[in-house]
Amino acid sequence: MKHAARLAHLFFPTCLAALLLCPGIAAATDKPTPQRQQTLLHLLKQDCGSCHGMSMKGGLGSPLTAASLADKPDDSLVATILYGRPGTAMPPWQAFMTEQEAQWLVEILKNAQTNPAQ
Ligand code: HEC
Repeated sequence: MKHAARLAHLFFPTCLAALLLCPGIAAATDKPTPQRQQTLLHLLKQDCGSCHGMSMKGGLGSPLTAASLADKPDDSLVATILYGRPGTAMPPWQAFMTEQEAQWLVEILKNAQTNPAQ
């Protein structure tokens, strides 16, 4: 019995340390899960592609190639995706994705290696 009590003393501080470290771990994995990434990429090609072109080179919507977005601040692109552009055909997507997910899409689009235009 005494032995078990001593073990518990060692065990609880370790658990507490793990819990305290958890928020750090969660922040590092803000990226969508691989499964959610597939859904978002599908949305990008099908839904966004219906206006911006299947290859993101533009159509009804402006081009979303890495080169055409390079100079635009992430924040304003994320806001455009989440809230749309009133007075234009660009609809708001906040009902379909979180801010982190919109940010992730902006990163995908701005990177010539991952932009579906390539
Ligand atoms: C119904 C058509 C339509 C759909 C669907 C659509 N867009 Fe747009 N989008 C537009 C139009 C039109 C503009 C240009 C608005 C303007 O004239 O300022 C635009 C602008 C944008 C911009 C700003 C580009 C820039 O150069 O500033 C981004 C980013 C964007 N769309 C991303 C998306 C994403 C991501 C999706 C899918 C989740 C999407 N759009 C779906 C029509 C659409």
